[in-house]
Amino acid sequence: MIIAVDGPTASGKGTVARALARHYGLPHLDTGLLYRAVGYQVARLGGDPDEAGTALAATRFPDDLLADPELRSEATGGLASRVSVHPAVRQALYERQRAFALQPGGAVLDGRDIGTVIAPEAEAKLFVTASVAARAARRFREMRESGREVELADIMADLAARDERDRNRAEAPLREAEGAHVLDTSEMTVDEAIAAAIAAVEHARGD
Ligand code: DC
Repeated sequence: MIIAVDGPTASGKGTVARALARHYGLPHLDTGLLYRAVGYQVARLGGDPDEAGTALAATRFPDDLLADPELRSEATGGLASRVSVHPAVRQALYERQRAFALQPGGAVLDGRDIGTVIAPEAEAKLFVTASVAARAARRFREMRESGREVELADIMADLAARDERDRNRAEAPLREAEGAHVLDTSEMTVDEAIAAAIAAVEHARGD
């Protein structure tokens, strides 16, 4: 069984995808990390190469880079969103994601284009979303808890900019896949979101 989980930044899609993977005993790939690794590599090489140079970075990063905590920073998320607009970068990362989706027994992948491009045949597709205010409040809490001085207004502006870029790029923009179950987590606790996600997968399997 392939489970595709898409949605905007800080919607809870990563938490939902990890919980589904645990629940069904499936391997999980956070595809955002791949784009983050490319953005990070490009920045490390001095920033702003052309599309071909960025795509080359997408084929070359070492696997252990995916475990680097710096990949999870807001700054790297912004870089990832920028490099992800290039079709050649998306193409360079396609095979790796596709192979993960097709492993025997199935997989859970989360990202922006799993249900639309990477695994349109997925048995279960979820589009996890939440209001900008709810997502910004979560991010704000996480960052404050980890000791960072941040302003809520800056986080909101950043999220809105990232949404805008991810939704409006020409190649594989963020959008609900056909047949996707939309899960709005704005008013849900983590446990409620996970329960709703499992119920949606069960429903999709039963169809
Ligand atoms: O999910 P995330 O915040 O880690 O993703 C970082 C950026 O990577 C996101 O703003 C857009 C890009 N991305 C993408 O274009 N396609 C994916 N499947 C996953 C992420």
